[in-house]
Amino acid sequence: MKITAAVTGVGSYVPDYVLTNAELEKMVDTTDEWITTRTGIKERRILKGENQGTSVMGIKAVQLLLDKTGTNATDIDLLICATTTPDMVFPATANIISAGVGAANAFSFDMQAACSGFLFALATGAQYIQSGMYRKVIVVGADKMSSIVDYTDRANCIIFGDGAGCVLLEPSTDGLGLLDQVLRTDGTGEQYLYQKAGGSRRPPSAETVANREHFLYQEGATVFKFAVTNMANVAAQVMERNHLTNDDVAFLVPHQANKRIIDATANRMGVGPEKVMLNIQRYGNTTNGTIPLCLADYEQQLRKGDNLILAAFGGGFTWGSIFLKWAYDPKPDPQTV
Ligand code: UT7
Repeated sequence: MKITAAVTGVGSYVPDYVLTNAELEKMVDTTDEWITTRTGIKERRILKGENQGTSVMGIKAVQLLLDKTGTNATDIDLLICATTTPDMVFPATANIISAGVGAANAFSFDMQAACSGFLFALATGAQYIQSGMYRKVIVVGADKMSSIVDYTDRANCIIFGDGAGCVLLEPSTDGLGLLDQVLRTDGTGEQYLYQKAGGSRRPPSAETVANREHFLYQEGATVFKFAVTNMANVAAQVMERNHLTNDDVAFLVPHQANKRIIDATANRMGVGPEKVMLNIQRYGNTTNGTIPLCLADYEQQLRKGDNLILAAFGGGFTWGSIFLKWAYDPKPDPQTV
């Protein structure tokens, strides 16, 4: 019998501090009106405090996932963390998260694919389930974007925020879970969205710091054009080759980078706004966190058998789409019972 990788639970965590458009108006030359109409964002969360890395949020999200699903940490076989803002260059943030939740029997590694990282990690984790090798895989998407955002760069500082989400993958023999994927990269897009220094090509120096090269650099308008075309193309491709129409799709789960990119993707797929997961207004662009944060926010609205189309575009360039058949009905929300 064919084994597929089903999502059997979700967890999420966002920090308490809310950075509003009103506060950004005091930091850079911008307005709430510009940010809202150009991006759809009203506020984002920021992880404050000394020595607080991405793993802090990842651990809280995974702990919630373990609690919600009644899973023993020691039963986890593998934990993958998709992140662009690891705690350190090495070791992997995934290792720190595994240790933090007590997943002592798991092996762990990080995945770097910028904003598409969660999809790449989900597809990778699914392979270990589909092959029959492992039974419990956790995939985390987490970023502390505030650690690489230049808060003097008004075009980019307004879009990013911090947050973490995660899912548990387990085997299904009922045809639920990840059913198809299209994942792509194009390294010629490197110069439009990247961090100029801090890697092996341009190690940190007094000069790189003075030049503000340790911040995210983005030519937003160029990235925007590539994102609209490529994210919509792969999402439409996944729908077509699985013979899915608008009626068959319960939700589009798009990377939350800019509401205008999300709207364009939904239009191209012929999917109405009521079927588009959206929380960019509250969290901004949390890079690897966006898609699992959407799944967590909409978990109570999802039903077993729902067809979801996940789609993302990010630096690199990287992009992709995954067809996911949801595997469970809502369980009582622990916060409302
Ligand atoms: O998540 C990974 C992939 N990333 C993305 O998908 C992000 C894609 N890009 C975007 O979302 C948008 O390009 C941004 C939100 C980053 C920027 O919006 P834009 O509409 O592309 O702005 P722009 O950089 O082309 O600038 C247009 C104008 C400029 O003014 P002039 O030269 O036309 O007078 C900017 O100076 O808007 C100005 N501007 C602002 N004005 C007020 C740029 N940022 C701001 C701002 N407030 N925050």
